[in-house]
Amino acid sequence: MKYAHFVMKILVIGSGGREHAIAWRLARDSGKPEIFCAPGNAGTARIATNVAISAEDVPALTAWAKQNRPDLTVVGPEVPLCLGVADAFVAEGLRVFGPCQAGAQMEGSKAFAKEVMTAAGVPTAKAVICTDVDSAMSALRDFTLPVVIKADGLAAGKGVVIAQTRDEATEAIREMLVDAKFGKAGSQVLIETFLDGEEASILALVDGEHAVLLPSSQDHKRAFDGDQGPNTGGMGAYSPAPVVTDAMLPKIRDRVILPVVRELKKRGIVYKGVLYAGLMIGRNGEINVLEFNCRFGDPETEAVLPRIGGDLIPALQACIDGTLSEELVTVRPEASVTVVVAAAGYPGSYEKGMAVNGLDEAEAAADAVFHAGTKVKDGAVVTSGGRILTVTGLGADLRSAVDKAYDGVRKIQIAGSRYRTDIAHRAFDRAPSC
Ligand SMILES: Nc1ncnc2c1ncn2[C@@H]1O[C@H](COP(=O)(O)OP(=O)(O)O)[C@@H](O)[C@H]1O
Ligand SMILES: [Mg+2]
Repeated sequence: MKYAHFVMKILVIGSGGREHAIAWRLARDSGKPEIFCAPGNAGTARIATNVAISAEDVPALTAWAKQNRPDLTVVGPEVPLCLGVADAFVAEGLRVFGPCQAGAQMEGSKAFAKEVMTAAGVPTAKAVICTDVDSAMSALRDFTLPVVIKADGLAAGKGVVIAQTRDEATEAIREMLVDAKFGKAGSQVLIETFLDGEEASILALVDGEHAVLLPSSQDHKRAFDGDQGPNTGGMGAYSPAPVVTDAMLPKIRDRVILPVVRELKKRGIVYKGVLYAGLMIGRNGEINVLEFNCRFGDPETEAVLPRIGGDLIPALQACIDGTLSEELVTVRPEASVTVVVAAAGYPGSYEKGMAVNGLDEAEAAADAVFHAGTKVKDGAVVTSGGRILTVTGLGADLRSAVDKAYDGVRKIQIAGSRYRTDIAHRAFDRAPSC
């Protein structure tokens, strides 16, 4: 008698490069799962079944999952997590990788995160939390310039102002508290000490009690080479980030990630999923937390997940079961670089519906092409967003990974598209020989 091979069903929630990278990595697991992506994009359609439900429509996602019973759901973006998608799935007896709504507040509320960090003794910039203009103005007097003004809630990466003058700081506070520029997200503001240094991202897998750090990475937020121009959702990333030395990793786990996980547990919040620490590394190696996110980073994920070898699903399952350990995560020795191909006007206004050509050639030249803003129209791949694709290259060192990624990028043909040509530059600036 033959037994049918058990094929795991996995739902990935989201539609960007991060979600394509998650689906791509899960598809490489030895168990060969069947993957669904809600709503996905033209890239996920090649390796998964797209389900036409918005990543933010929690009731519709829950209804789909109730009916289709995925064995595992991986949530990509922060919005559904902050809306409580994990709680809704758990209430239906479904297994989900991603924190509950209360845990997602580590990203959803910068005031909450600051309070947890302070209680847990995690190194972070000093901040004052204000809900009215008068107290904000009086608190501002105690800060030197530059000073950082932050909206409390989710603001799609636009809620932080580095004010160089008191007028700029006052204006930012007014926009948030009086003009309600960010709606409810700006009804509380943080006035925060400016920290100098170089930024890095650490994504940690967390099971409510234990944590395993994934390799370090660094994002490039500005639109143009040399970190010039407006902020974007990210124009590329690389891993590892040499600003994070091997000696720092256990410190980051023991002084940043685990104290937060324990503090949350004390408050009745069992945090399961990715806890992402945005770090500022000072000139002398001081580690401070700028912020936490409650999910995989984008585009860091497109650089970090291709570096995970072996199977990833057992590690995600262990996060749900509370049985996470280091042996469940295998890191490949290669470095990786991911370069975002964006529409000409991005992050300002840009055209959509442009034909995307050269995908197969790019994939052959690099290691992976992840779709960020694409869809299928009349059988062809067209653009549907500002960040269109991310091309990832792996190499024995960062230099060869950079070369591999750009070999792929040059094969992509999209009218008017552009990309930064200096991804990973900070790694080379600091160590010219690497
Ligand atoms: N205290 C700080 N000192 C210096 N720069 C900061 C500080 N806080 C934030 N920043 C800068 O602002 C960016 C956005 O802030 P962050 O807290 O990550 O919020 P978000 O990602 O939600 O916009 C950071 O990546 C960093 O460049
Ligand atoms: Mg950030």
